[in-house]
Amino acid sequence: MTAQIIDGKKIAQNIREQLKLEVSKLSVKPGLAVVLVGSDPASQTYVNSKEKACQEIGFYSEVHRLPETIGESELLALIEKLNQDPKIHGLLVQLPLPKHINEEKIILAVNPAKDVDCFHPVNTGALFSGFDTGILPCTPAGCIELIKSTGVALSGKKAVVVGRSNIVGKPAAMLLLQNNCTVTLCHSRTADLSAEVRQADIVIAAVGKAGLITGDMIKPGAVVIDVGTNRVNGKLTGDVDFVSASQAAGFITPVPGGVGPMTIAMLMKNTMIACLNPFNPL
Ligand code: GUN
Repeated sequence: MTAQIIDGKKIAQNIREQLKLEVSKLSVKPGLAVVLVGSDPASQTYVNSKEKACQEIGFYSEVHRLPETIGESELLALIEKLNQDPKIHGLLVQLPLPKHINEEKIILAVNPAKDVDCFHPVNTGALFSGFDTGILPCTPAGCIELIKSTGVALSGKKAVVVGRSNIVGKPAAMLLLQNNCTVTLCHSRTADLSAEVRQADIVIAAVGKAGLITGDMIKPGAVVIDVGTNRVNGKLTGDVDFVSASQAAGFITPVPGGVGPMTIAMLMKNTMIACLNPFNPL
């Protein structure tokens, strides 16, 4: 059996075209501010893609590129300024931040109504409690869209998430639960990862270990979503060993061209929602 490839690039492009059409009908221009501290190459690439997507869709966009040495108080002052700026509906600070800056303090400083990453505890708490703010965490929401694109129903399925990060694993588990999956959240201390993954009708791999999930772990016909973005000899590689996994899976995402473009598309969608959000005080 050879899996059908889930074309994240195409699905993301459709979402962006839909947003472009909606923006053209609005009297306000949704605005996204992105703050990048330092020169991490992966972060620079992500931020450039976010800026480009805004321009293509017709959003107002600001990117603040700050030196690695910036002080925490200066960064907090910039966030406060952007919180108050009526042109800005979505505001995100690219992670990771340099060690001398307290990441939690920065996440807490972002106005929850502008938190298009869905990182603020007000928004993660809302997600946990099932409150509908309209804002969903970008990468996990992208994964759900990709699963739904296969036509496979989520309700009642066994889903295994590998990785418990705040950005992907934990919120992905929560979204799968909301979609009535029976969810297992695996991590570095999981006793028998292969046995857990082998049970799964749906697998989301988000650990950052190239090729960790191999074909022998995949239940025949499963939907496999690979969030991994590992550099191996200069080449972008997922957490799933694509060659062996695609022999067993029913559907699989490629890396690149799977989850990555969806993260950006969902961020754009969140920015549109934040702009239209009546709870936004500005
Ligand atoms: N670092 C890795 N992924 C993300 C993301 O989705 N948003 C932000 N702000 N930083 C990240």
